Amino acid sequence: MGCSPSSRFEQVLPTTVPETTRMSESGPTTIVVLGASGDLAFKKTYPALFGLFANSFLPQTVKIVGYARSAIALPDFRARVSSKIKTTDQAALDKFLQLCTYVSGKYDDAPSFQNLNAFLEDVEGTKDPKGKTRVFYMALPPSVFIPASTGLKHWCYLGEGGKNRLVVEKPFGKDLASSQELGTALAANWKEEEIYRIDHYLGKEMVKSLMVLRFANVLFGAIWNRNHINNVQITFKEKFGTDGRGGYFDEFGIIRDIMQNHLLQVLTILAMDRPVTLSAEDVRNEKVKVLRAIKPLTLDETILGQYTASADKKEPGYLDDPTVPHGSTTPTYAAAVFKIHNERWEGVPFILKCGKALEESKVEIRVQFNDVAGNLYPSTVRNELVIRLQPKEAVYMKLMNKEPGLSTDLHVTELDLSYEKRYKDAKIPDAYESLILDCLKGDHSNFVRDDELELAWKIFTPLLHKIEGEKIQPELYQYGSRGPAAAQEFIERHGFQRD
Ligand code: NDP
Ligand code: BG6
Repeated sequence: MGCSPSSRFEQVLPTTVPETTRMSESGPTTIVVLGASGDLAFKKTYPALFGLFANSFLPQTVKIVGYARSAIALPDFRARVSSKIKTTDQAALDKFLQLCTYVSGKYDDAPSFQNLNAFLEDVEGTKDPKGKTRVFYMALPPSVFIPASTGLKHWCYLGEGGKNRLVVEKPFGKDLASSQELGTALAANWKEEEIYRIDHYLGKEMVKSLMVLRFANVLFGAIWNRNHINNVQITFKEKFGTDGRGGYFDEFGIIRDIMQNHLLQVLTILAMDRPVTLSAEDVRNEKVKVLRAIKPLTLDETILGQYTASADKKEPGYLDDPTVPHGSTTPTYAAAVFKIHNERWEGVPFILKCGKALEESKVEIRVQFNDVAGNLYPSTVRNELVIRLQPKEAVYMKLMNKEPGLSTDLHVTELDLSYEKRYKDAKIPDAYESLILDCLKGDHSNFVRDDELELAWKIFTPLLHKIEGEKIQPELYQYGSRGPAAAQEFIERHGFQRD
């Protein structure tokens, strides 16, 4: 690790970005982190920025300005930033901290934003917007998205010749109506091409490699359809509960927290047709077509769960969290089946499952193929392609083999691409590093477009309204278990066969 004098940033500008965009990156680039005193900023944003800096992926002209209401002295702010960065390269960290400054101000107040703008001009060394890039990263609670983005547009937006980018964190609303309201407010001030809606799953290494796996291997292209695939599961498991975030979580629940965004994004990449090119719009056009082919979810195709205390009572139940309202019916586990009504996927269930406080932490995709037609061997089990997103990234294919030796028995084995064996020295970047780099490059491929978001909410809103309107009681499961008992029967009912 170390920062070379010439930045690698310029070398990785995508060829799909217009030349004008590429040229403008050579001027001052300022990343403004709003909500810089908060959890996300310290835990994710600054460490990701450091990772990019230390690997010379930030433009050489970059400056990073933190902004929040709290009055924090610069040395204290830098000490907090540094406390969350794990590195052995102290020299790189010291240089990085010198790039980081902090301004205090409100999110709904003109003088505060005027002050921020004056500070930015000072840091950039010129008032002239020409050639400058400003990235406004809103690491803020959704309640202030609208005033903050409006204030930024009025007071800190670069005029003619400058580039402005607004990074927005989820949640993008709570249902179709609130998401449209947020979308309309953002669209009043910002062009769609200036908005970068983060779903950090799109920055994960294995999600980024899904398209390569599908479209750069002739083998998968040929079998990726209803004629060969029986069912698909996308599973997210976390072995911890809400851990003090119960207040936030209870307002949203697991469907909005994980399924409506992270898992649905994975589904669209798995199911989409080959895009005409790798440009952001071509890729997102294909994802949108998948979403348009999915009907809204219904309760009878859904399983809901909520965790109780662990068997030994050491881990509290969801309702034991003091920040969770008494008697809450918010689900901490959900499984639902998605059907894509198109030529490629008609009849193939996509089962999405997500839960907190389960027996392990793991995110994986499991593509189960059809039974062998005219099978000669009674003990055959189905082929399965497993893509493990985390931990221990891997792609493996379960297949049948003859037991070696004189035996004629069959054996289920794997063709195994485990990253830790195959790419021993590779550093897998954090999803946020990858996404911030994409944003600096002006590449939208791994960000959520407005129409994707709207279609996603259309799929989930009727179900969410029903669950909340009728206070549907989730099935209880113990902290540390495999989730609600009904979920096992549910996936088998939808075609999944265990070995
Ligand atoms: P925080 O609650 O830590 O808020 C960030 C900052 O915003 C705070 O430091 C505070 O700064 C300011 N703030 C907090 N509450 C209010 C309020 N009611 N009104 C005005 N300002 C307020 O949020 P996170 O950092 O956890 O999350 C930021 C965004 O990122 C959210 O949209 C969240 O959903 C999303 N996100 C967070 C993840 C995480 O792991 N934390 C993961 C994925 C997404 P000050 O008072 O100094 O102005
Ligand atoms: C966030 C959710 O979006 O994703 C959290 O709000 C969840 O509840 C997190 O823990 C999981 O992200 P990762 O990258 O750890 O799988």
